[in-house]
Amino acid sequence: MSPDEKKKAAAEAALAYVEDDMTVGVGTGSTVNFFIDALAGIRQRIRGAVASSSVTEARLRERRIPVVNLNSVDELPIYVDGADEADPHLRLIKGGGGALTREKIVAAVSRRFVCIIDDSKLVVLLGKFPLPVEVIPMAQSHVGRQLAKLGGRPVLRQGFNTDNGNIVIDVHGLTLTNPVETEECIDHIAGVVCNGLFARRGADLLLVAATAGVKTITR
Ligand code: A5P
Repeated sequence: MSPDEKKKAAAEAALAYVEDDMTVGVGTGSTVNFFIDALAGIRQRIRGAVASSSVTEARLRERRIPVVNLNSVDELPIYVDGADEADPHLRLIKGGGGALTREKIVAAVSRRFVCIIDDSKLVVLLGKFPLPVEVIPMAQSHVGRQLAKLGGRPVLRQGFNTDNGNIVIDVHGLTLTNPVETEECIDHIAGVVCNGLFARRGADLLLVAATAGVKTITR
């Protein structure tokens, strides 16, 4: 099975958690793109979707799925998104596509976070994938110095701005044995908007696609 076939399998498995009349939170990335395509097939059954990025919003609109403003709902019943890494405790690294802040907001508003990945992303310990950190541009050097003090090697993502007009620093080589603590610590650096650790609010359900089929991991 190719990586794309696995992503598609995980994405299609997530449809089983979408019920009639739901407003669905939709993440960002190549795995989620397969989910959006699958969601289009049942668009008559759902109320609409909240997008976690402008790219996702455009794809939803292209597929005639009604886009709902997050501020018009109190809570979302479900959020479906991919990840760059996931551990067996359902803690994640996200933000490879740079949409981490909006993804974290949508996840925070959602009752159930269904994370869809292929098996190459399931790891025992998070941190091989560089941790994305969204930063206010004027704080780039300050934040970089603080991240280096935490033992990481900060690298500016070149030529990239988030949907919020900020920069992303990818942090290599962090030891993430306590991801909840690290997530909080990085969030407290002045100038950091958000970091890609989803440990405090991890996924509720992980759908991991492998050649043998899609495995479900719950907390
Ligand atoms: C987007 O900013 C990310 O958080 C994505 O969810 C993550 O990078 C997974 O993307 P892929 O499905 O493209 O690997």
